[in-house]
Amino acid sequence: MQIVKSIAEMQSICRNLRTQGITMGFVPTMGALHKGHLSLIQRARSECKTVVASIFVNPLQFAPGEDFAQYPRTFEEDCRQLESEGVAVLFAPDATEMYPNGAVTTITVPGIGDRLDGASRPGHLTGVATVVAKLFHLVAPHRAYFGQKDAAQLAVLRQMIQDLNFDLELVSCAIVRDADGLALSSRNKYLSVLEREQALVLHRALTKIEQSIAEGERHSSTLLQIGRNTLETATGIRVDYLAIVDARSLLPVATAERGVLVAVAAFIGRTRLIDNFLVA
Ligand code: PAF
Repeated sequence: MQIVKSIAEMQSICRNLRTQGITMGFVPTMGALHKGHLSLIQRARSECKTVVASIFVNPLQFAPGEDFAQYPRTFEEDCRQLESEGVAVLFAPDATEMYPNGAVTTITVPGIGDRLDGASRPGHLTGVATVVAKLFHLVAPHRAYFGQKDAAQLAVLRQMIQDLNFDLELVSCAIVRDADGLALSSRNKYLSVLEREQALVLHRALTKIEQSIAEGERHSSTLLQIGRNTLETATGIRVDYLAIVDARSLLPVATAERGVLVAVAAFIGRTRLIDNFLVA
């Protein structure tokens, strides 16, 4: 696996691959890789000739006071995993390479970018859209792979790709969970044993809602109450949002029809976790 730190070198490698007609799958990450990330790589490998990944803990998507400094950094181990999954090129720039002095341009997706996580974490989705747009320019992949767990991020990127005419296909991949249902996240590393137990209520609340939908309940207000009742049984958690929304616009919907997004975010102690499902 080739590890590249400079933008100029990355552009030249990717341009070369593209001119040779090689299909490129791209998996952008912030490192601290887990099986969720590896599932994106595996999907990319199954659909593309070459897989390019990136590791960059993007300062722009963390608000002051958030966990940028503590965010887990496990670069050596990440490289070993990417290599064994068959990644051909890893882009791992530092912050000054990505944002040299004087860089001021950002990409905002108004509306969608201000909903769900965008509402709770102002500026977060602008930070995500900006770095992903830069990475798309540098890599120019045919397909880019993202996890469904970050549903608001997916909605923002889908809109950005459409509005800015990026010539690529966005592929969203299913959430990967531990055996007890906890959605995998690099931030699970922050949880104590007790907090990890408490965090399971997110999945329990979503499962209750999903079961109620399967039993025929479609009214969002009733479903949200069912979810809240479950969340209230837990100690040590503070709910940020529980929402039933259109998966593209992230606007609330009155009934949970097929394809609608049911999403939750909560603080378990100081750790903010998210989870969701799409109505079947
Ligand atoms: O989902 C992530 O890990 C990040 O938000 C991303 C897409 C790599 C942008 O920094």
